[in-house]
Amino acid sequence: MNDNGSIRWGILSAASIARGSFLPALRAAGDGKAAVVGARDLRRAETFAASEGVERAVEGYDAVLDDPSIDAVYVALPNSLHAEWTIRAMDANKVVLCEKPLCVSEAETETVLRVAHESRALLWEAFVFPFRRHFHRLREIVTGGDIGDLLSIESNFHFQLQGRANIRLMPELGGGALNDVGCYCIHLATLLFGRPPARGTALAQRAAEGVDEEIAGVLDFVDASTLIFSCGMSREQDTFCRIICSEGEVRLSNPFHPSPDDALEILCGGETSVEHPSGPEPSFTAAIQHIHAVLREQEPPRHLATVDSLPTARGLQFARDASLGRTPARELA
Ligand SMILES: NC(=O)c1ccc[n+]([C@@H]2O[C@H](COP(=O)([O-])OP(=O)(O)OC[C@H]3O[C@@H](n4cnc5c(N)ncnc54)[C@H](OP(=O)(O)O)[C@@H]3O)[C@@H](O)[C@H]2O)c1
Repeated sequence: MNDNGSIRWGILSAASIARGSFLPALRAAGDGKAAVVGARDLRRAETFAASEGVERAVEGYDAVLDDPSIDAVYVALPNSLHAEWTIRAMDANKVVLCEKPLCVSEAETETVLRVAHESRALLWEAFVFPFRRHFHRLREIVTGGDIGDLLSIESNFHFQLQGRANIRLMPELGGGALNDVGCYCIHLATLLFGRPPARGTALAQRAAEGVDEEIAGVLDFVDASTLIFSCGMSREQDTFCRIICSEGEVRLSNPFHPSPDDALEILCGGETSVEHPSGPEPSFTAAIQHIHAVLREQEPPRHLATVDSLPTARGLQFARDASLGRTPARELA
């Protein structure tokens, strides 16, 4: 922290997500400072810093981690680089917010989480929806008992990728629809069921580049609890989810990055009520405010990667393996 108490953030790469989502949310959070951005090319970092109001630009990611004035690091790199740079950031004693998915395999996730445990690092995976009012309200309804017991979740996340020059289409960088957006569906289910899946299956349509461009699957959370998910990068935006309970259900137009227009519909006993729990604040703001409050010892940490990330990594691994034919797609009992 600097003299006026701002949390000082370092940003790894001049990524679109840093420009479009993280920095507007950091500005809205109010008590953090974008102190340094590192990019592979210094000119690119300088251009980014100048246009986004970041104090300093440096060449390379190490130079961000070497800066002793930096409290927290945002890892906005392609998926295949998350593990390496998250570990390096934790080794440099930084608090870390790493983009989703934390890693590109369950085994790699276990390695990163082992380092986080051993070094007692504060590490978050950038699923920001659990910090939003929308999710709090959903959880309140699902656990409140009025619509019975949670049985099943149906979750979509589709969007239309513009152009082919994109990290999401590069297998060597951990691209593919499952890693990019399927992780949201699986994360939602692990949080609501409160446990990892026990088995799963999936089928993918592959892009010419080799990644899964569309993928659908089923994960079995045991005790008759299932997630049916569908995600991809070649259809109109669709983030619709149904949370099906024994005496009713909740339908959500977008639980992942909700805006004030996004509805949460509760169906129970033939009646439907509609709520719009989300405000206009940027999607990342609540998560960043929480991280700042933890650093100021004003709140205990919630949704740390050491708690939340492995169940999602396991679900992703089931779906990834099945879609690649690495393990037989398992029939559900
Ligand atoms: N949480 C969310 O809501 C959300 C939304 C979108 C994306 N994401 C995640 O954010 C991450 C970045 O996504 P993005 O859409 O922002 O990607 P992007 O615009 O393509 O940025 C990726 C950055 O990675 C760096 N990079 C390092 N090695 C690279 C390589 N070999 N090839 C290409 N780029 C390389 C580049 O950095 P330099 O600047 O150093 O050149 C580039 O700025 C991904 O993990 C994605 O899943 C999260």
